This record gives sequence, structure tokens and C-alpha cells, in this order.
Amino acid sequence: MASEQAGKDRAEAADRQAPARAQVTPAAPQASRQAAAAATAQAPARPADGSAPSPPRAAAAGAARAAEPAPGDPEMRRRILMRWLMWGSAFVFFAQSALAGLAMFWPRRVLGFGSKVDAGPVSSFPAGSVTKFREGKFWLSRLDNGVIALYWRCTHLGCTVPWREDEQLFHCPCHGSIYERTGQNIAGPAPRPLDYMTVEIVNGRIIVNTREIHERAVHLPQHVTPV
Ligand code: FES
Repeated sequence: MASEQAGKDRAEAADRQAPARAQVTPAAPQASRQAAAAATAQAPARPADGSAPSPPRAAAAGAARAAEPAPGDPEMRRRILMRWLMWGSAFVFFAQSALAGLAMFWPRRVLGFGSKVDAGPVSSFPAGSVTKFREGKFWLSRLDNGVIALYWRCTHLGCTVPWREDEQLFHCPCHGSIYERTGQNIAGPAPRPLDYMTVEIVNGRIIVNTREIHERAVHLPQHVTPV
């Protein structure tokens, strides 16, 4: 009987303690969930590929600020210098591009055919010489009494007429027209002498105006500019 009584006492004692456990047990999962949430908020996110998580952004920014060199630091001066070099290079590049664009639209001063050509000082051309000026498309013929600039276009069909030093004549290779050093035609199908350009002597220099080309039926002394 005593053992039965002892068994009942233990059962009653267990029944008295059971509600207390029933009240504690539900609270435990909630506390653990809150603790887990706090830990998740503070813990860095793990990348999807499973690699090591990166430190929090605030921590990374703080580290970057800490790594930033202070003003006056050699590293800071180097960075400033590099920045100026970069901007300077960009400025030079854009300035060159702008100047190139302007140059395309700037009116050009034509110095060759179609403009006045400075042939050089009179003393550079001895009497009897015939000098070719490719840019101005003329032959400068130095005569005894002056100079004449002859347009090198044949008056027959327009071929370029070369001076033949061996013949001391202009001889057109196309159809054989021949001209004297004055430009007078003496053979071939050419209908008239070579055309001549206006020449003026300025401060001892021969200036040929390749815009002013004159036709003539025959060579005359007044076509020669005295020097
Ligand atoms: S083009 Fe010179 S002779 Fe005909």
C-alpha cells in the first residue's frame, strides 16, 4: 500500500509540473526564431554560387574611406596628377578635332594655277632660259628684252607642250605643233601662238598672274614684260 501511495504522489507531482512545461515549450520556438532573424539581418548574404559572403556594404565603404589617402599624401598627389593628365589629353584631342574641322571650311589661299605666282627674282633667269613652273602651268621664257609667261596648253587640242632643250623649241607630242621660245607657232596644226599670262615686276621679282591668260593671233613685242 505504501508503494501504491508513493506512486500516486509521484503521479500527482508530475501532473502539477506538466502545465509549467506546457507554458514554456511554445515560447521556446518563438524566441529561437527571433534570434535567428537577428542573426540573419546581421550576417552577410551568401552568394548564390556558394562562395564566401562579401562584407556588409557599410563596412566596405568604411574600409574604402579608411584606404583613401589624405590630402598632401604622395599617393593623393599622384592621383591628382593623373587626373589632370587625363583631362589635359582629352582637351588636346578635342581642340585638335575642332581645329581640323575649322580648317576644312576655312577659305584656302590658292598659290598655284589660278592665282598670282611669285616666280622669283629676275636675276635668277638668265637670257635665253626657259623655266617650267608646274604649279602655275606655265613656262617662263627669258628673252633679250624681257620675260614672257607662256601657258603650256597647246592651242591645237590642249596637250601639255614640253620645252625641248635639244631643239630650243616647244614641241607638242600629240600632233607635232612647234613653237618658238616667244610662243610663236611655226609648224603643225596649232592655229595660233601659245597663250601668255600677265607678268609684273615687283621689287625685282617676277610675279605671274595665272588668272589672266591672253590669246593672240601672232606674237608681238608688247606681249613681253621688260625687265
Ligand atoms: S594638241 Fe598639240 S599639236 Fe595637237
